[in-house]
Amino acid sequence: MVRIGMLTSGGDCQSLNATMRGVAKAVYRLYDDAQIIGFEDGYKGLMYSDYRIMEPRDFSGILTEGGTILGTSRQPFKLMTTPDENGLDKVELMKQTYKKLKLHCLVVLGGNGSQKTANLLSKEGLNVIGLPKTIDNDLWGTDMTFGFQSAMNIATNAIDCIHTTAASHGRVFIIEVMGHKVGWLTLQAGMAGGADVILIPEIPYDIHRVAEAVKRRNKAGKRFTIIAVAEGAISKEDAALSKKELKKKKAKGSIYPSVSYEIAAQLEQMTGIDTRVTIPGHTQRGGEPCPYDRALSTRLGAHAAKLIHDGEFGKLVVIQNNEVTSVPLEESAGKLKMVDPKGSMVREAKLVGITFGD
Ligand code: F6P
Repeated sequence: MVRIGMLTSGGDCQSLNATMRGVAKAVYRLYDDAQIIGFEDGYKGLMYSDYRIMEPRDFSGILTEGGTILGTSRQPFKLMTTPDENGLDKVELMKQTYKKLKLHCLVVLGGNGSQKTANLLSKEGLNVIGLPKTIDNDLWGTDMTFGFQSAMNIATNAIDCIHTTAASHGRVFIIEVMGHKVGWLTLQAGMAGGADVILIPEIPYDIHRVAEAVKRRNKAGKRFTIIAVAEGAISKEDAALSKKELKKKKAKGSIYPSVSYEIAAQLEQMTGIDTRVTIPGHTQRGGEPCPYDRALSTRLGAHAAKLIHDGEFGKLVVIQNNEVTSVPLEESAGKLKMVDPKGSMVREAKLVGITFGD
């Protein structure tokens, strides 16, 4: 009997279930006697032995289901090495569960922080395989993470919906897009939704440049302006601060609930045009996975099963140039994949007239 542990960790996204289904379907075909143990709520389940013995039928009918059938939770990597509320060593707890259940390996569906913990467990001697989850698409080593395309569809739809009302009223509209510290989702949804201005963390913005773009459009007879703002967008002034200074500034708090509201207030004052903010928020992580994600997840999951069968552990399954392959967990862990401000995607966006505020 081969026992495989599986967990979903960190913020959820579409296609977690599709990925687990991909792993399970291939595992059950590759082994006659495999058993999958599903840990509940991510690493917490592994720490405190909250698990379910999964049956093949558990993975049926979930290809199109959003969320995660196992549940998830955020267990920040930096807190992994601090004891839990009972003074117990979390890493030791996870190792004990793994050993107690006589697991052959552990499959971790997670983003950046979760893969750092996966790497830590791998270094501690556990057989670990990572699968790249996140709507942010910021995992180093893979061209694409599952969840991203589905979130892009939702963010694009939000921009599409705003277009008509912005045009009717002749307003400036800001749509704040998720993405944590990177701008992939904003950049791609912004382009897909025909945004006039795109502000992302990788390209600090000058608010005067943004106001100029709005005024230019107005002068050219365009009644509205659509601005896609990444939740992590940063002004040139803030980007010039040291890490310590920025932390201090943030700790003081702001009168604005998010960067978009600050930009909206500044633009209204500088252009005199009615400006509104829309935040699709967690809807971007919700609902069913899009067809692209379902296919990607199936491929990534199947490859994870193959790695298990081949005894290749300590790997993150990735897609590069449309080929599914893997990279060592330690190579990817702790590195953010960011938008290259000089890369082709930004260049093409600029060629069609999109303003980045730089
Ligand atoms: O990492 C995915 C993500 O949705 C980010 O885009 C966002 O910054 C964060 O998670 C939100 O986290 P939470 O669900 O904990 O509010």
